[in-house]
Amino acid sequence: MQTRNFINSLDLSPSQYDRLFDLADRINHAPATYAQRCQGKVMASLFYEPSTRTRLSFEAAMLRLGGQILTVADPKTSSAAKGESLADTIRTIAGYADLIVMRHPREGAAQLAGEYSPVPLINGGDGAREHPTQTLTDLFTIRTFLGRLRGLSVGLCGDLRYGRTVHSLIRALARLGDQRFVLISPDELRLPDRVLSSAAALGEGNTFEQTASMDEALTRCDVLYVTRIQKERFFNEEDYIALRDTYVLTAGKMQQAKPEMIVMHPLPRVTEIEANVDDDPRAVYFEQARLGMIVRMALILDLLEGGDDAAG
Ligand code: NCD
Repeated sequence: MQTRNFINSLDLSPSQYDRLFDLADRINHAPATYAQRCQGKVMASLFYEPSTRTRLSFEAAMLRLGGQILTVADPKTSSAAKGESLADTIRTIAGYADLIVMRHPREGAAQLAGEYSPVPLINGGDGAREHPTQTLTDLFTIRTFLGRLRGLSVGLCGDLRYGRTVHSLIRALARLGDQRFVLISPDELRLPDRVLSSAAALGEGNTFEQTASMDEALTRCDVLYVTRIQKERFFNEEDYIALRDTYVLTAGKMQQAKPEMIVMHPLPRVTEIEANVDDDPRAVYFEQARLGMIVRMALILDLLEGGDDAAG
């Protein structure tokens, strides 16, 4: 069987996404049915960049499927610190594990690792480029709350330049078509042209609008996807500080939004959503994080069992 990796959000077709989400729904409603499905399997998580949610949600997903985990959370204690190449690290770890999830600061590192890996490899984020399992999480969350993935007004707000979750999400949504994207960012942090043109070439009936004003755009959105300014990708602290508080969503601003709009955030949140928004039923970011674990369970099953959902 050919090894399947998940490196870019477009690696799965729309119908493969639908199948995964159907499986994730079944897992969400009857987790006990799946509690032994990965018995005897081992997942290695190899994180060269900080992570809480992505690593823990993958590890929780594998444990909840009855599998086991190996984890390298601190690359300073691994052989990369001795100068080992990524290709050698991956080939070694593949001898210990049935599946690898990796996060790396270098764009393209996941692609390279996937080429060397004899076991399925999942990209847990590569620099500012892609974060495809966050896209799985985001689409599954939208589907769960709004019941559809097409014909949406989606406000993407914050650091559209460096925020990899947006780079993956916009292309996956654009491919489905009939979306109205409102790209809300300061000029300095606009969506890179290569991402915008790649999204614009996908799907039919999409529109893209760029604005610096969250307040006005907010009133028109079905989904408001807020992101943090990506401090670690700035060259200097001053630029970061100047932009950090450009957008702050408050309970007051939420009064202008549609009653059925959902507010999403890949987390971690810094200052961009005030804590008093959390009690608004439209604020779904913590449930989004939980659904991320559920949909990762579906992805792990799919990659290890080839999508054959015998229990479903
Ligand atoms: C995101 C990431 O790492 O890109 N976090 C996550 O995986 N949930 C978003 C971020 O760090 O801002």
